[in-house]
Amino acid sequence: MKKAAVDKIIDSYGADRSQIIAILNEVQDEERYLPEETLKHIAERLKLPLAQLYSISTFYRAFSLVPKGKHQCTVCMGTACHVRGSDRVLSEIERVLKVKSGETTKDREFSLDTVNCVGACALGPLVIVDKEYHGGASPNQVPTILGKSKPTAKK
Ligand code: FES
Repeated sequence: MKKAAVDKIIDSYGADRSQIIAILNEVQDEERYLPEETLKHIAERLKLPLAQLYSISTFYRAFSLVPKGKHQCTVCMGTACHVRGSDRVLSEIERVLKVKSGETTKDREFSLDTVNCVGACALGPLVIVDKEYHGGASPNQVPTILGKSKPTAKK
């Protein structure tokens, strides 16, 4: 991300240090992670210790210091989803994407993560792809959920 683009975000918050979370959030939205160079630039602009930015970036799960995929796939592993088989859904997603939870596919299309309950327990097992909820998920629905199902051939 170019410094000018980062500056634009910082300036939109009046270069206010107390808005650091919102600033980091916008950068993360643009870049899909928080590159080291960008963190250094933000630290300089806001006159904050770089260590503080790293501390915030590692504390909040929404932030990542490594590149994330274009699509975020999250499998709920909370109790209600787990008893309905979310572990089998997760295994199938890991098999299809060839990554483990917490990883990003080599083509940077998908990042896979788990979460412990998002408060939609009645929908379990629940898979969330880019904020879209897929309730009652089963292993055989995984290709469709990931948008990887092959189109049916037209005759
Ligand atoms: S346990 Fe999955 S949404 Fe609550």
